Amino acid sequence: MLSCLILGGCSPLFYLLAMVLPLFSSHTLNPHEHQDHTEKERPKLLLVSFDGFRWDYIYRVPTPNFRSIMDEGVKVEFVENIYITKTYPNHYSMVTGLYAETHGIVANEMYDPALNLSFSMETDSVYDSRWWEQAVPLWVTVQKDGGRSGAAMWPGSDVLIHGMFPTQYLPYNASVSFETRVQWIIDWFSAPKGEAVDFGTLYWEEPDESGHNLGPQSPLMDAIIAGIDEKLGFLINELKKAGLYEKVNLIVTSDHGMTQLSPEKIIELDQYVDRDLYTWVDKSPVVGILPKEGKLDEVYELLVDANPNMVVYRKDNIPEHFHYQHNVRIMPILLEAKEGWTIMQNRDGPFMLGNHGYNNTLRDMQPVFVARGPAFRQNYVKTSMRSVDLYPLMCHILAIKPLPNNGSLLNVQDLLSWEPTTSFTTPTFSTVPPKVNRYSYAPVVGSFIGVVMVLGFLVVYVILVTLKQRPVLKHRSWEMSQPLLQEDLHL
Ligand SMILES: *[C@@H]1O[C@H](CO)[C@@H](O)[C@H](O)[C@H]1NC(C)=O
Ligand SMILES: *[C@@H]1O[C@H](CO)[C@@H](O)[C@H](O)[C@H]1NC(C)=O
Ligand SMILES: *[C@@H]1O[C@H](CO)[C@@H](O)[C@H](O)[C@H]1NC(C)=O
Ligand SMILES: [Zn+2]
Repeated sequence: MLSCLILGGCSPLFYLLAMVLPLFSSHTLNPHEHQDHTEKERPKLLLVSFDGFRWDYIYRVPTPNFRSIMDEGVKVEFVENIYITKTYPNHYSMVTGLYAETHGIVANEMYDPALNLSFSMETDSVYDSRWWEQAVPLWVTVQKDGGRSGAAMWPGSDVLIHGMFPTQYLPYNASVSFETRVQWIIDWFSAPKGEAVDFGTLYWEEPDESGHNLGPQSPLMDAIIAGIDEKLGFLINELKKAGLYEKVNLIVTSDHGMTQLSPEKIIELDQYVDRDLYTWVDKSPVVGILPKEGKLDEVYELLVDANPNMVVYRKDNIPEHFHYQHNVRIMPILLEAKEGWTIMQNRDGPFMLGNHGYNNTLRDMQPVFVARGPAFRQNYVKTSMRSVDLYPLMCHILAIKPLPNNGSLLNVQDLLSWEPTTSFTTPTFSTVPPKVNRYSYAPVVGSFIGVVMVLGFLVVYVILVTLKQRPVLKHRSWEMSQPLLQEDLHL
């Protein structure tokens, strides 16, 4: 009707428009089609951690399954993990992109003076949400974006965090076999549309446990490492059998490495300071010391030059590059053993032949990193990355907006098979409300293009008919192509 009014009478164009308009609206208003679109396009990602798998274990014995992932995908030689190089802090960094001082899981054993609570990975204190809620793990963000996640274990994944568990998860139980964990992962990823998970985590306690008991230099470690490669082979096989291998992006990494200890390299605190003066909070090789009321200076003075193989920090002079200072859970005094040394109160305690937790710049502390899948380049070796960069990389692969973090997609985008065209971390995006779901753009863009095209036709028609001048067709089609182009590049 509008065109009739403008043109001063109904023309064939009116009928053309009448035919074209419903085409656009039928595409944009059909909710089922929109739903299908959403289910089809959400990318899949499985993050696997073999605890304590040092970067160079893959060179020590034949590891054909790691090698096949490298050949079909990417490998990173130097992964700088976060200080302290312990299990809980590093696993939480991987799924938050934050240093320990920001995510709040600063050690495997902690004391929070504000809460007056202690945390130990060996007690039920792990299930107290308050320890975890200084950050938001990736599975929660995926679910808030409308996706689903499944955790076949991961530190924190069976804890209620900001009101959520993973959509599917296994309560932590070290006795559940790797094969059973894999079976759950396969079930969750291959569930019907609308139920299948988009992001999964898979955690396995080895080779950490054997590394501690045997020491990484033990020849017995060879069989342990070969065994992990077989486990990876089992996972690959199960993914293939379920038709998931080409769909799911697979990242295989670890929280830290392992270094050899020696019973000759023990630092006994009892030789230097009375136990009554302090509380021992975390374990070797980075020990949090909480001096008793009013004893800070005394304890510090007693320890600072006590042993050449132990570095003693007051909280305010912990080096900046550790990013390990600004949290009440970091103790007033921090003792750091030099590599290979063990801090104990005396020799009576249990002694391990391998350990981690040392300075995160030490090569032995660094984990393995390989990945493959539709998002990754093939047969590509990258020199270095930081483990905090993994989070923005995973968010990009899952097409969700990352929360503020300490990583950078720019540092790792060369791992991707396509160049990221939009970075969710650019300032232009930070002003967009976080709940934007790019999957819902399609109908909006479709309607917009429809309206632009119709108006364009009208304008061109009016110009052609009434002014008899050449239209600026090129300009019009350029404007029209922009939303389409952007939509393509988002994907
Ligand atoms: C901290 O908790 C313990 C019990 O776990 C209690 O004995 C102590 O008084 C509490 N301290 C403060 C300052 O509330
Ligand atoms: C842990 O898993 C083992 C093996 O599946 C099972 O026998 C045991 O009951 C589980 N423990 C708990 C506390 O669920
Ligand atoms: C890490 O990121 C958090 C969140 O953006 C920020 O608050 C913190 O200052 C960052 N830390 C460093 C060392 O940049
Ligand atoms: Zn360990």
